[in-house]
Amino acid sequence: MFWMKKNTSGCHKALPDHIGIIMDGNGRWAKKRGLPRSAGHKAGAINFRKIAKYCSKIGIKYLTVYAFSTENWNRPEEEINYLMRLFEQYLKEALSDFEEENIKVLFLGDKMAFSANLQKLIDEVEKSSQKNTGMVLNIAMNYGGRQEVTEAVKKIAVELENKKIKIENINEKLVSEHLYTAGQPDPDLIIRPSGELRLSNFLLWQSAYSELIFFNLLWPDFSEKDLDRAIDEYASRNRRFGGI
Ligand code: FPP
Repeated sequence: MFWMKKNTSGCHKALPDHIGIIMDGNGRWAKKRGLPRSAGHKAGAINFRKIAKYCSKIGIKYLTVYAFSTENWNRPEEEINYLMRLFEQYLKEALSDFEEENIKVLFLGDKMAFSANLQKLIDEVEKSSQKNTGMVLNIAMNYGGRQEVTEAVKKIAVELENKKIKIENINEKLVSEHLYTAGQPDPDLIIRPSGELRLSNFLLWQSAYSELIFFNLLWPDFSEKDLDRAIDEYASRNRRFGGI
């Protein structure tokens, strides 16, 4: 793991600053064991807590996880209700992790669709972890890349209408500044377990030059060792950003 070695300036040379993870395969993990899908989500939440702590420990600066997409509302009501309860439970339990690990939490997505209780919890977590200076943990919930860009376009249109900006001011930087991830670097590495080879509306704008690594295993089985492997693979890639 040569990325663990520090260079002379004390930085992890090839360690990605920002990792995105599509936590996929919970349902299949449960099915394989003859368990209800909810058991897979529970195992996925436990694994999320473990991997988030590990990322913080090894010095990842930003971690973005895809927990619930704008399209996930199409699932059976029972599964949605279970996931909402799991989010509440997780957020309550993980508060101590955020403090201990100095993790700052942000939620990406439209929070208004959640219950008043969950919205309150989300606000509390964001507020109480605001002062933390360690890893930034973005939890994408009721998030969709297209919805995010559409919202950014609307905000920019309002500024234009109110004459706060001119058409000439609209550029890529301005668009980035109107996304949920404003002020953050784009993900260097996006990991998707479960064998599916697509982004599924995750960080569409921000992933323009992300390195993509797919794993043929299910999210609850994704281990710290698998993350090490992904980082090793990332470190061996030649990122050219359109150059030569
Ligand atoms: C995708 O697997 C996973 C989800 C839609 C839910 C992800 C949620 C967690 C991992 C819970 C933890 C998150 C927080 C913030 C507490 P799937 O159900 O689509 O799996 P399948 O494709 O095998 O059916």
